[in-house]
Amino acid sequence: MSEESLQELVEIAKTARLHSIAPFSNFLVGAAVRTEAGKIYTGCNVESASYGLTVCGERVAIWKALSEGERDFAELAIVADTESLTPPCGTCRQIIWEFAKHAKIILGNLKGETQECSIKELLPLAFDARFLSGAQKD
Ligand code: THU
Repeated sequence: MSEESLQELVEIAKTARLHSIAPFSNFLVGAAVRTEAGKIYTGCNVESASYGLTVCGERVAIWKALSEGERDFAELAIVADTESLTPPCGTCRQIIWEFAKHAKIILGNLKGETQECSIKELLPLAFDARFLSGAQKD
């Protein structure tokens, strides 16, 4: 994927961030996932007054895409307003590993700084369904 189209995905995530509902943390996160076929789904974090029910922007984008039948993802952009680029939280890493393993991850901030990484770097020694088949059955 060209540098230009990665930048375009970051811009789309940046716009999605503006839909964030984050009255408790005031920490706005936008995400955009692009399928192998080129379709883009966006997400933002949505916070609940029952804090633990909050969902992150990355997962909203991935849930939206999966629920529309998408399965193959090429890139995922994540944008927050931080100096050090915000990486996905642990829960999102697990979901990215399971559903968007091959996606190139692009972290971005509002200054236009970006950094690429992969879920293999962010979540080494990941748990997934492979281990379930080896589970002991009592
Ligand atoms: N948040 C995300 O949306 N993505 C992450 O990967 C990190 C955290 C959100 C959750 C919560 O609404 C706020 O940021 C502060 O944790």
